[in-house]
Amino acid sequence: METKSIRVAKGLERVIVDDTAISSTDSKGNLVYRGYKATELAEKKSFEEVAYLIAYGKLPKKAELHEFSSQLIKLSRLDNSTIRLLKSISGNAPKLDMLRTVISGMPLEGNDEHKALQMAARMPALIAYNVKAIKPMKSKNANYAERFYNAITGIEDKNLAKYFEKLLILYTEHEFNASTFALMVTASTLAGPQAAFTSALATLKGPLHGGANSEVLKYLLKFKSKEDAIRFVDKKLKAKEKIMGFGHRVYKIKDPRAQFVKLQLRTLSKEKGMYALVEYAEAIEEEMWNLKRIPANVDFYAAIYMYLLGIDEKFYLPIFAAARSFGWIAHYKEQVASNKLIRPDSNYIGPKGLKL
Ligand code: COA
Repeated sequence: METKSIRVAKGLERVIVDDTAISSTDSKGNLVYRGYKATELAEKKSFEEVAYLIAYGKLPKKAELHEFSSQLIKLSRLDNSTIRLLKSISGNAPKLDMLRTVISGMPLEGNDEHKALQMAARMPALIAYNVKAIKPMKSKNANYAERFYNAITGIEDKNLAKYFEKLLILYTEHEFNASTFALMVTASTLAGPQAAFTSALATLKGPLHGGANSEVLKYLLKFKSKEDAIRFVDKKLKAKEKIMGFGHRVYKIKDPRAQFVKLQLRTLSKEKGMYALVEYAEAIEEEMWNLKRIPANVDFYAAIYMYLLGIDEKFYLPIFAAARSFGWIAHYKEQVASNKLIRPDSNYIGPKGLKL
């Protein structure tokens, strides 16, 4: 019996491919994690609480939070074969490539859920491996964000780590984005969590997805004035080139994460006495909106935010990956719990009937 296929939009734009109970977005600019507004979670909760919420479906009770936080510390330790693998990779390799390679090859223990948590828990240690001249933290009970922030900057400062934590929370989950969808495709073949995380990391790298944040910093640092910034926008648009940090498949009016980070930047830039990049960014955002009605996305303001927090640009994308890995745990579990192989149809347009 012949079955008919359905044609859907290129890039699966506005196509609903499955149900999810993890998070939701809409074009007006709402982002909800398991029923809670993501920006409210960023304001009021710790990274551990949100990671638990995303991975296990509910906010943790005190004892659950304590157990989860201790597990993250325990699982973050690197074994000898992982260290050997890390050492075998050139120090000049982009951090995300290093992360993807080690994640794909390091030994993991336990069942699939434990393996997924182990990968997520280890990401900060893998990213920070070989970061020179970082003193061990004085604080004995530092949380995930404080440890992660210290490992990549050497700074031990609760106030700055709190800013960092808010960004981690906003990067944790974003329904069927490209890297998560890649993870779902791999998970649907029953290849296991390690293969699925590797696919997700490979997909996150591109400048249309996670790679946008460091691209933003590169152009912002070239400006000497607001006028330079505006000229840059006009020139790019005239040449019909894309400006990194703008546009989104879902958010057509505002990206709630970008607006939240922008508000945080008002206080952070005051505390740091660093205003120029924020001023250029706001001018670019206004020009983009006036000329193209395209809003800034999270990566636009995240780039300045991380710069003001003293974070080296090479860590921007891996930070995104580490936070998003808790979303990947949830999507991995959701996919295999109600699995159907993800395998679309195609419309063949090549030559037919050729003879040899
Ligand atoms: N700069 C300039 N124009 C942009 C743009 C940008 N950053 N993003 C989208 N546009 C324009 C496109 O040129 C296109 O214009 P046209 O209709 O005149 O041809 C229109 O907006 C639609 O863009 P399209 O790329 O088809 O939308 P999409 O939903 O497929 O893509 C992104 C979404 C995120 C891939 C896209 O906005 C983009 O490439 N942004 C830059 C990369 C980035 O910041 N990524 C991080 C996302 S969080």
